[in-house]
Amino acid sequence: MLHATFRLDPAFTIAPVSRRTFGSFVEHMGRCVYTGIYEPSHPTADADGFRQDVLALTRELGVSMVRYPGGNFVSGYRWEDGVGPVADRPVRRDLAWHSLETNEVGVDEFMRWAEKADVEVMYAMNLGTRGVQEALDVHEYLNHPSGTRLSDQRRSNGSDKPYAVRMFCLGNEMDGPWQTGHKTPIEYGRLAVETARALRAAEPGLELIACGSSHSSMPTFASWESQVLEIAYDEVDYISAHAYYEPIDGDLESFLASAVDMDHFVNSVVATADSVGARLKSRKKLQISFDEWNVWYQKRFEATRQTSEWPIAPRVIEDQYNVADAVVVGSLLISLLRHSDRVTAACQAQLVNVIAPIRSEPGGPAWRQTIFHPFALTSRLARGEVLRVEMRAPLHSTARFGDVPTLDAVATHDDTTGDVTVFVVNRSLTDPADLAVAVAGFGRAFRVAESWTLADDVLTATNTEQHPDRVVPRPNETAWVEDGELHASLPPVSWTAIRLTPA
Ligand code: AHR
Repeated sequence: MLHATFRLDPAFTIAPVSRRTFGSFVEHMGRCVYTGIYEPSHPTADADGFRQDVLALTRELGVSMVRYPGGNFVSGYRWEDGVGPVADRPVRRDLAWHSLETNEVGVDEFMRWAEKADVEVMYAMNLGTRGVQEALDVHEYLNHPSGTRLSDQRRSNGSDKPYAVRMFCLGNEMDGPWQTGHKTPIEYGRLAVETARALRAAEPGLELIACGSSHSSMPTFASWESQVLEIAYDEVDYISAHAYYEPIDGDLESFLASAVDMDHFVNSVVATADSVGARLKSRKKLQISFDEWNVWYQKRFEATRQTSEWPIAPRVIEDQYNVADAVVVGSLLISLLRHSDRVTAACQAQLVNVIAPIRSEPGGPAWRQTIFHPFALTSRLARGEVLRVEMRAPLHSTARFGDVPTLDAVATHDDTTGDVTVFVVNRSLTDPADLAVAVAGFGRAFRVAESWTLADDVLTATNTEQHPDRVVPRPNETAWVEDGELHASLPPVSWTAIRLTPA
């Protein structure tokens, strides 16, 4: 039996929980849009063609914000193809995913969907094949009230009021050689700063995201951020980060410790951005938009990638997630919350079908993948301030990340309700753990209001169309509070959330 302890104190805060931590991502890729959020012939489709079963699951997931329309897709996308009468919209090649884009869904449809889903939109602009003018054009279409060509076009297309989008990505993964219109950091930095200046002249107060590295193992990682920010620091608010994790060569121990890598990634980007800020003698601190993160079995995708045909909405990277994947997703959320002082926006990639917490079948049901559950619970329960956790826990060694703490945790405190919630992961493949958390520092008695653990004897168990609830979080009956201490027993390879409320 392992033992882990930490002490919580309401004064030891990191930052408020940012609701934007619970963002997601809808890309025109595979079946995320078509037969994902949109399927006019589906029995649950509403008058706009949106699947209401998927909408209901999106709300249940607790998504706060959705990045749109890509991804690699956006770097070849012409937004104006997707507005106006659907019959007049062109079919185009999508070079990023080697498929055809019918443009049946464009920005007006997506904004309507976002309103129904009650999510903020983070809009990504094409700085791959396009530039400052097209960025200004899509901004004018989205946000200008009226009386200009593009704002009046939006109004005549049915949206009288501007959409008031606040967050814009200045391109996507422009450091990646695979990106259409890939650039050097100097080329991209210049384009990003000029686009940002123009957008700010059009509308002050926008929140602008410069592209950081596509992942931390890019050969240009950190020097990309440094060179781009030397040029664009004053004009942007965020630098992006993207990370996908998977078990490599069956190494489950390292995979379960993926959040150690995410912590390191965030700390490295913060250090790089702050060193540029110091060199520029700036008092401003940039935020990180972790606008793509998830488990993605990328090696399988690379092995099966087809480039000879041009399908419409093909099945692409429809990863079926298991118990271990869900535990990793829960632990990545712990890492994101722990960095709430600097990571104030994040998007799990993606929402439906494409490496997604929600799966849907054309004409058939929609269901929750295993990774749905830690996201939904964290979004619902992480409220108020994030609290600092100094965990005392055993270490174990991993091939990729060296010695890592076997248990990891974060906590939140909601001052209005008095609730304290602990999120904790046990990464041991073999051993259960006893957790003891000192909560006497709050100066009040607590009781366990709810306690959920996601674990299973079969780590490879998944949720499928036939068995959609094979893997669900179960109440953890071992959690109790006594003499100012929360105690709980945590099974091996498990993720747990425990909400305490004043007794
Ligand atoms: O989410 C899938 C892809 O991963 C995105 O299109 C791209 O930005 C990233 O490489």
